[in-house]
Amino acid sequence: MSVETVVFHGLPRADAATVDARIRRAKAALQGRVVILGHHYQREEVYRHADFHGDSLQLSRAAAQQEAEFIVFCGVHFMAEVADILSRPEQASILPDLNAGCAMADMADMPAVQRAWDELAAVLDPDETVTPVTYVNSSAALKAFCGAHGGTVCTSSNARKVLEWAFARRGKALFFPDQHLGRWTGHQLGIPLRDMPVWDPAKPLGGLTPEEIHRAKILLWKGHCSVHQMFQPAHIERWRATHPQGQVIAHPEAAFEVCAMADAVGSTDFIIRTVKASAPGSEWLVGTEINLVTRLAEEVRKEGKSVEFMSPMVCMCSTMFRIDPEHLADTLEALVAGRIVNRIQVDPATAALARVALERMLAVS
Ligand code: 13P
Ligand code: SF4
Repeated sequence: MSVETVVFHGLPRADAATVDARIRRAKAALQGRVVILGHHYQREEVYRHADFHGDSLQLSRAAAQQEAEFIVFCGVHFMAEVADILSRPEQASILPDLNAGCAMADMADMPAVQRAWDELAAVLDPDETVTPVTYVNSSAALKAFCGAHGGTVCTSSNARKVLEWAFARRGKALFFPDQHLGRWTGHQLGIPLRDMPVWDPAKPLGGLTPEEIHRAKILLWKGHCSVHQMFQPAHIERWRATHPQGQVIAHPEAAFEVCAMADAVGSTDFIIRTVKASAPGSEWLVGTEINLVTRLAEEVRKEGKSVEFMSPMVCMCSTMFRIDPEHLADTLEALVAGRIVNRIQVDPATAALARVALERMLAVS
């Protein structure tokens, strides 16, 4: 098999039914040599072809358990990296469009995190007192950094257990790149907001004083998801005024004020399970990506449940949306033809350390 990096473009695109048939044909031709993993934010035309659906934790676990030669990840770059790290070397992790990144993951990079660590060393001994915890939405290099410094990884569904693990070892945590998940989880653990200052990587010492650093329990990296940032308390207030019996559910990447007003907060899979398990006739306002919300609304409509999207603006994860049926069809057809395109391969030294951090996470979750 040849291995290539390909940007598929330029050809006239066929109609939806033709592309759907191409995907089915290519998948059948690969006869169990390929497994397709699909994150809940994928558009329906791609989602329906996935063998496994899930949130980040479920898909990490699924990636580690596959036997197939090819793991085609319908998600974003960091997810395909995790699949590569947790799968066997002879398996190939493939991202149908290499432009499917995660804007939040890009808000923390290795030089900035290393600089933060070095600056912290001027105030305290970070390797004795601070556990670095990276949200899974981050590069393999940052996971490796956590592996090397006694730290770990978390997802939206295990962040609480992971932070408890971290605090059992060292008194403080440096949490990156999502300040909102870190703040919400710290709040659940009873940590006052004033003990979770924001570390701004653009400022010396994160914009904090040595006293603030000594006092801090969690240093929250100044990063966020622009999709979840669109949800606001005013959206919840307006909806509750007209739906007094309704319930609000949000992803923990939403702002603290939104999570604090919600009836329930959790991962994408938690949101789906909670709405599906609710009584017939229930009304829900959901604060997470629109492809998930639209599909969920459709699925539960027959039970008389209503599901509404939290923002009046369309908040779509444009990078998840990069994975379209054409890219999936082209990727699978290339495999049928003996070409591996858009393979995601983490270098062995980085992968080994990142695996240490990921295995710590999997052991506690
Ligand atoms: P989940 O792990 O909850 O699926 O979240 C992933 C993500 O990127 C949410 O924006
Ligand atoms: Fe990244 Fe936000 Fe998209 Fe999730 S929704 S993949 S955090 S940009």
